[in-house]
Amino acid sequence: MIQVGVLLSGSGTNLQALIDACQGDFPARIAVVISNKEEAYGLERARAAGIPAIHVPHRGWGSRAAFEAKLSETLGEHGVQWVACAGFMRILSPAFLDQWPWRVLNIHPALLPSFPGMDGQGQALASGVRIAGASVHFVDSGTDTGPIVAQAATFVSPMDTRDDLVARILTMEHKLYPMCLRMAAEGRLQVKDGAAMVQLAHGEALLLLDPALLADPTQGA
Ligand code: GRF
Repeated sequence: MIQVGVLLSGSGTNLQALIDACQGDFPARIAVVISNKEEAYGLERARAAGIPAIHVPHRGWGSRAAFEAKLSETLGEHGVQWVACAGFMRILSPAFLDQWPWRVLNIHPALLPSFPGMDGQGQALASGVRIAGASVHFVDSGTDTGPIVAQAATFVSPMDTRDDLVARILTMEHKLYPMCLRMAAEGRLQVKDGAAMVQLAHGEALLLLDPALLADPTQGA
């Protein structure tokens, strides 16, 4: 059983998916949830699940290094072995990452390496792509540039609003992240020569597809 620390800044629906997964037969538990935003609803979700929920503001430390040292210290105090970023809106520096060597995962709402950074869903919509999705990747010091672990794909309709696409991708994120955390917890996930290496378990795949992607176009609506 591994101990996971979740870093977030917002609503925490991915945290909820991880909490729900941990209720079952799952090789990880969430030891602490940390938010840089006090009002993040993710902290409420953690408290409701009986998980320590801690606000560590990113301002007021004098330096990013001091903020990140506090993050690391808090994670360490809770016995954390892996860190899962779930809507954490801060870039982590090499000094932080060196303390957690290839032990930090992130979920990004786009099929990386396309559309890194802010608003991956809006970028996808604006570009006119017809396939979109989410990626779980190891965090390195770039913006959404670390080794990709697995991805989940869905479609983009010309009728979609940004909210439609956000919701459709989120549904896929909630399947993808628990799957990747299980891989990590079972010691089946590592980085070698800059690439993510995964030992797949029976029935697992590194690309999850929205069933709607498989609809038969000859059958009409
Ligand atoms: C998700 O879209 C995730 O991919 C991105 O931030 C969003 C967090 O959503 N990194 P939530 O707070 O988990 O609902």
